[in-house]
Amino acid sequence: SKSYNITLLPGDGIGPEVISVAKNALQLVASLEGIEFKFQEMPMGGAALDLTGVPLPEETLSAAKDSDAVLLGAIGGYKWDNNEKHLKPETGLLQLRAGLKVFANLRPATVLPQLVDASTLKKEVAEGVDLMVVRELTGGIYFGKPRGFSTNENGEEIGFNTEVYATYEIDRIARVAFETARKRHGKLCSVDKANVLEASMLWRKRVTEIASEYPDVELSHMYVDNAAMQLVRNPKQFDTIVTNNIFGDILSDEASMITGSIGMLASASLGASGPGLFEPIHGSAPDIAGQDKANPLATVLSAAMLLKYGLGEEKAAQRIEAAVLDTLDRGYRTGDIYSAGLKLVGCKKMGEEVLKSIDGKVATA
Ligand code: NAD
Ligand code: IPM
Ligand code: MN
Repeated sequence: SKSYNITLLPGDGIGPEVISVAKNALQLVASLEGIEFKFQEMPMGGAALDLTGVPLPEETLSAAKDSDAVLLGAIGGYKWDNNEKHLKPETGLLQLRAGLKVFANLRPATVLPQLVDASTLKKEVAEGVDLMVVRELTGGIYFGKPRGFSTNENGEEIGFNTEVYATYEIDRIARVAFETARKRHGKLCSVDKANVLEASMLWRKRVTEIASEYPDVELSHMYVDNAAMQLVRNPKQFDTIVTNNIFGDILSDEASMITGSIGMLASASLGASGPGLFEPIHGSAPDIAGQDKANPLATVLSAAMLLKYGLGEEKAAQRIEAAVLDTLDRGYRTGDIYSAGLKLVGCKKMGEEVLKSIDGKVATA
C-alpha cells in the first residue's frame, strides 16, 4: 500500500485543537483507501520559541522538506507579540514558506448551501459564490528589501518596507493562476494597484503578457480597492483572482466571511517541486484558544487539499469533503457558523461527527 510521510505543525492557540481533528480524519480516510500515513509532529511558531528559542527550528524545516506534505495549524499569540522580528512566530511561518519555496497559495472560498445563512451577506448575494484566490506567497512587501527601522532627517524613528516583484516571480504565479482558471470557469481577475505602485505596473504588464499563452482564459484587471468593494457588492462576478502577497492576505480574509466564517477556509501552498504546505487561512485565535470552541473544518478541508494537491489522492480528498458536507447536513455547527435551530458543538465533537460521516456510520440526509 502507498505510504506517505506527513509533517504536522500544530503551532499555537487553536492550532493543536484543529490539527488533532484533521489528523484523525486523515488517519480514518487512509484506512478506508488503503493508504498509510506516517505522521511526524514538529514544533513551530511560539511553541518552538518556548522549546528551542527560535520560531522555526532547523529540525522542523528539514523534517518538512523531507516529507511528502506538511499540515500546519496556526501560529502566534499575545505572549510573543512584542518579540524582536526574528523571534516572532510569524517570522517562522514566513521562513517555512520561503524554505519550502511554496510561492503559490490557493485559497478557495465557496459558499456551501448549508451555510448560506451563516454569511453576513444577503442570501441572494452570497448564494452560489465559488471563487479561488491565487495569492503570491514568497515575494512582495513581506520579503522585499530594504526593510527595517531607521531615523529620518528629523531624528524621528521610521519603519520601512519595500514592495518588490521580479518578472520571474510574476510570470510563475500568473501561470499557476491561468492554469487554475482554465480548470475552473475560465475567468481570471488580476488584482493590483497599478495606478500607483511600480511593482503593480510590472505585475499588470507581465500578467497581460502571459495571457497570450492562455487564449481560452478571459483576463480582466481590477484595482485592489475596487476589488475589496466588489467582493461584498457582487462576489459572484469572480471566478479566479490572482494577486500579490499582501493583497491576497487581506482579500482572502474578506472572501472567507462571504462563506460564513474564516473557520471554514482552507489553503494549499505549492511550489515548483517538493512538498506542499497546507493550512487554514485563519490564525491561532487566542480569544477562543483552549476553550474547545474552534471550528476545525478549515483545517479538515486543508487536509483534503493536502490529499488532492499534495498527494494526488483525489478519492480520499473527496471522502473528506463529502464528510464535511454530511456533518453540516446533519446540523452540527461550531459557534462561528451557528444559526438558530441547529446543533451547537465544540471543536472535538465536530471532529467526532466528521469521523462518523467519513465512516458512513450515519444515514446521509
Ligand atoms: P485569527 O484568524 O487568529 O482570529 C480572528 C478572529 O476569527 C478571532 O475572533 C477568532 O476567534 C476567529 N477565528 C479564527 N479562526 C477560527 C476558527 N477556526 N473557529 C472559530 N473562530 C475562529 O486572527 P488574529 O486574531 O488577527 O491573529 C491571532 C494570531 O494569529 C496573531 O498572532 C497572528 O499573527 C496569527 N495568525 C497566524 C496565521 C497562521 O498561522 N497562518 C494566520 C493569521 C494570523
Ligand atoms: C496568513 C497569515 C500570515 C500572513 C501571517 C501570520 C504571517 O495572516 O497566513 O494569512 O500574513 O501570510
Ligand atoms: Mn492572513
